[in-house]
Amino acid sequence: MDVVFAESALDRLGDMRILLAGGAGYIGTHIIVSLCAQGHVPIVVDDLSNSSKVAIERVERIVERPISFHQADLRDTDTLRRLFDQEGPDAVIHLAGLKAVGESVAQPLRYYDTNINATVSLLRVMAEKQVHKLIFSSSATVYGDPESLPLTEDSRVGGGISNPYGWTKFMIEQILRDIAPTDPRWQITLLRYFNPVGAHPSGLIGEDPAGIPNNLMPFIAQVAAGRRDHVNVFGDDYDTADGTGVRDYIHVMDLAEGHVAALNHLTNGVATYNLGTGQGTSVLQLIHAFSAACGAPIPYQITARRPGDVAACYCSPAKATRDLGWQATRTIDDACRDSWNWQSQNPAGYPAA
Ligand code: UFG
Repeated sequence: MDVVFAESALDRLGDMRILLAGGAGYIGTHIIVSLCAQGHVPIVVDDLSNSSKVAIERVERIVERPISFHQADLRDTDTLRRLFDQEGPDAVIHLAGLKAVGESVAQPLRYYDTNINATVSLLRVMAEKQVHKLIFSSSATVYGDPESLPLTEDSRVGGGISNPYGWTKFMIEQILRDIAPTDPRWQITLLRYFNPVGAHPSGLIGEDPAGIPNNLMPFIAQVAAGRRDHVNVFGDDYDTADGTGVRDYIHVMDLAEGHVAALNHLTNGVATYNLGTGQGTSVLQLIHAFSAACGAPIPYQITARRPGDVAACYCSPAKATRDLGWQATRTIDDACRDSWNWQSQNPAGYPAA
């Protein structure tokens, strides 16, 4: 007798072909590990503008299987069409985009062109090829300057966004809300990341920013590795417990598992989830936790506030826990240990391909 599964039941069996757009980067490579652990088949498209093919080779060592990889710019719609025909994805995780806040202020057109047009091209091909399942990497940046904390998915968005990068995330969320009603088959989930940190515990993959890191954790890790003298702490006169900025740092493996949970719970229309821990950690607390993890002091200097920074930003992850059955389980100490493991094994990041 034939057994007929409802589509949603099939999805939960973990045999989906998942296209990761921008999948060679820091977050994408960790998602590959989580997808494989659940039996899904990852396929990567990335232009390698801010990532390395070596990262894919490293993931292949972790998951012990080859990963299908395509080097392409999502704005090249014809190439993308051929890729969909060849690979037949069931769903897409869209992580592709430029993400340096300061650079986006200096080069707004490049940011709007890359982030928005890549998304439009991807959506066009998805619609043509009848692929309607999408998870989009959004950001806590859409909340701008928070009116109150913790941030929930219903908190105000758009107020106080201070840079073009943040606006591209805000605009892409709106584009996705606009296309969802055009076809009832769309199943779109917006994941608003808080501050991803840490690395896979193997130390084979991790964050490898080009040039001087913009973000705190990779900067601390490079100071610990001796690549930089000291951390500049951007302001100690905020209205927070120790005066330094407070953020919701989430271990990248928890974040990765959040994507798999979201994939397994896609529903028609658009759903939005915060992916964070719900805990705020200050700059000085993170420096001290890293110092304990690497067993050496991390020199730092207090400097002026960085323009556009908010005092504190952390979420309530309750909606994701309720609907997706997901919550972060790893601690700041775990993240510092894993980040140091990656950084000390790869002091200069990934070697040239
Ligand atoms: N900080 C320092 N020194 C540094 C770097 C950062 O003191 O060298 C401080 C910042 O002032 C802030 C905290 O460390 O208080 C975290 O800064 P990050 O740059 O690591 O992270 P942000 O919270 O500023 O930005 C992150 C992402 C953005 C996203 C934003 C949303 O990098 O992509 O969260 O809130 F838009």
